[in-house]
Amino acid sequence: MASGANGSSGDTVLVTGGLGYIGSHACVALAEAGRRFVIVDNLANSSPRVLDRLQRIVGWRPDFVEADIGDGARMARVLREHRVGAVMHFAGSKAVGESVALPLDYYRNNVAGTLALLEAMRAQAVRRLIFSSSATVYAADNAMPLREDAALGASNPYGRSKLFVEHMLRDLQAAEPEWAIACLRYFNPVGAHPSALIGESPRGIPNNLVPYIAQVAVGRRERLSVFGGDYGTADGTGVRDYVHVLDVAEGHVAALRHLERAPGWVAVNLGTGQGVSVLEILREYERASGIPIPFQVVQRRPGDIAQCWAEVARARDLFAWRARRDLGEMCADSWRWQQANPDGYG
Ligand code: NAD
Ligand code: UFG
Repeated sequence: MASGANGSSGDTVLVTGGLGYIGSHACVALAEAGRRFVIVDNLANSSPRVLDRLQRIVGWRPDFVEADIGDGARMARVLREHRVGAVMHFAGSKAVGESVALPLDYYRNNVAGTLALLEAMRAQAVRRLIFSSSATVYAADNAMPLREDAALGASNPYGRSKLFVEHMLRDLQAAEPEWAIACLRYFNPVGAHPSALIGESPRGIPNNLVPYIAQVAVGRRERLSVFGGDYGTADGTGVRDYVHVLDVAEGHVAALRHLERAPGWVAVNLGTGQGVSVLEILREYERASGIPIPFQVVQRRPGDIAQCWAEVARARDLFAWRARRDLGEMCADSWRWQQANPDGYG
């Protein structure tokens, strides 16, 4: 499907950050949809082994360019040489705590990096973009479920970097209406491909709940610290909208189909619409793994909100997409991946 006004662009999808957790699953979804793609990744938070694993899943070796999205000249060359018609932009830094300690790194990688990519896209007349945004762009005091028109407001540099990019993309599309842009606001992606060949491989101590539980189950960590048991939720623990990473990946293919029909700027939640507490997911993981998970309730984690889940009507109406995999499948796939790869990609 050609997208460039001058006809120079083709139908390949550029997947930035395609060796990372969500990007690698998006590559599988693209392959399943019969789409050609090329991966750009600088390996800042990923392993080249992902390429071998992707090859085993899809049956052919994906094109890969080791490069930084901030290198605009290089990005322009990739777009041209691979006849790219659309970009799925996953590349970025994502640790909230690190962003507080290293704000400039986050603004450089997430904001300036995206700016360089956009300039390269414009130079090559590639004007279709799917951006990895986050539920963290919503202000803390909204009512649940979160609709896309809820108040925005981030509380840390990581979240602000996502919000800045959303604004940047909206301004760009308003000025140049031929752009087709979707900001996908992910809730809490978890799980792994059922082959157990690709999954989440955090470096060091996991910040996120499900990877931490997985490491307790496999015996790498002693017990889970539950951050807060005194929230105003049903069991007192934090509530989130966990969504299977493959559903998130398929949401990108659905968004791409939408953008091919309809230029514009749109923000869309990707979640299940269901809130699940820390203790509920812990119990589900115990069921999936058959292993008791020791835990202790400790102080709340600074910056955490009590609860957060998505209104999912827009994804359904615009993309004909909904999350299909349930919590049991998320835990079972996470556990299969963790068992087969106790040290992640090593
Ligand atoms: P990830 O760290 O596994 O993947 C990001 C990939 O981008 C990595 O492979 C990394 O090496 C690469 N990368 C980073 N900076 C780069 C650069 N300058 N040039 C080229 N490659 C670069 O993270 P993920 O969980 O797959 O997240 C993907 C995107 O989704 C990120 O933008 C993240 O902020 C966003 N997001 C993630 C979550 C989540 O819970 N995982 C939630 C909301 C939004
Ligand atoms: N939690 C624990 N113990 C842990 C880790 C987490 O009890 O060891 C709790 C948290 O307090 C929270 C829930 O589990 O109630 C989920 O925590 P995560 O860290 O897995 O996810 P968050 O919703 O806090 O954060 C995620 C992403 C952020 C993003 C945010 C909003 O990791 O990058 O969603 O989109 F900003």
